[in-house]
Amino acid sequence: MATVGTLSSTPIPDPLVHPDFDGAKALGTSNTLEKVSFDPFKHLNHTPPSKVYSMEELGYPESCGVSPNGVSEPFPLFSAEAIQQMRKEVLSDEVFAKWKYSSELAQCQLRGYAADCAPFIYDTWKHPETLAIISKIAGVDLVPAMDFEIGHVNLAVYSEEEKNKALNEMVEKANRATDEGVSGCPWEDDDPIVDWHTDSYPFVCVTMLSDCTGMIGGETALRKGNGEVVKVRGPQMGYAVILQGRYIEHRALRALGGSERISMVTSFRPRASLIKDDTVLTTVRPISDLGELYLQFAEYRFEMLQDRLRDANKLMRDQQRARRPFDTLRLKQFIREQIEFLEHMDKEIVQDDKVVAGMVDDSHLISEELKLERSKKRRVAVA
Ligand SMILES: [Fe+2]
Repeated sequence: MATVGTLSSTPIPDPLVHPDFDGAKALGTSNTLEKVSFDPFKHLNHTPPSKVYSMEELGYPESCGVSPNGVSEPFPLFSAEAIQQMRKEVLSDEVFAKWKYSSELAQCQLRGYAADCAPFIYDTWKHPETLAIISKIAGVDLVPAMDFEIGHVNLAVYSEEEKNKALNEMVEKANRATDEGVSGCPWEDDDPIVDWHTDSYPFVCVTMLSDCTGMIGGETALRKGNGEVVKVRGPQMGYAVILQGRYIEHRALRALGGSERISMVTSFRPRASLIKDDTVLTTVRPISDLGELYLQFAEYRFEMLQDRLRDANKLMRDQQRARRPFDTLRLKQFIREQIEFLEHMDKEIVQDDKVVAGMVDDSHLISEELKLERSKKRRVAVA
């Protein structure tokens, strides 16, 4: 991918949510929620993606993830009515008052609210038909990673002035790039908010809740195993993209030209307890209610462990009944794997006083260069 990193220009403003931003009022939604129950016949509007790129096509060894499927093209998932209902729940006063998180990477994220006060969104992502669609595209049977991760929302609102400024910057940059004979997308590599990284959870489903007509950018750039960069279009309203984000290096490209951009990111893990779970909490610890996050993480991992121990017991008994020799080596290997499973949990559950709210550490970043740059920026900010 060609870059325009050598061109100098003032950075395009980051998506901005004003401190006094009132979600419901600013985006013209009502706080009076009439109760709508999720109905798959009414609210799912699914057409399979035109293409699902395999891990192999992306140059990753199939064994590196939990599925042979890597990423989908955007596909229609929800009806207009479902999206309107989700917007109403997400932009309610209660969600903003109780579940809004900010970090150095994003000024407004709504997290963990679904079980508490967004029944439609919660039921949508828990419904067997929704999960069947997601699982089919992912190529592995999936469930939401944890309730806390149902319906994570990234929200950016631009004033008319910011919107125009960003667009002008982009046009100016594009012109300069043409003048100087540099090709490539002019907006995509300008001090990215989040650089190349892998996600905390095995799979994500990104759903668009905003009308993206007239917006430019918003794609996801993926780094293939051989270093080559490819882009997947961002979803339009009601559409979704599924990505095996824990294993594929990616970064979000800026979207310009809209007045709001609300995307919902729901994270998933394999349903089967036998499949490996490489979930980390790196990117989510600083933007979570730690008690809730740790409880849910420990709860599902302990359930996995219970299933595994129960299955191991059954296998040992069955083998003995069938007069097979005892497989000592297999037992030792199983024990070792579960020790590693618990050690992994211990590492991810960082003592509360060592987690700084809003500060994501650098372990999710791939590029050493970017880690250095970020630590320099932090030093300047402290000084
Ligand atoms: Fe990501």
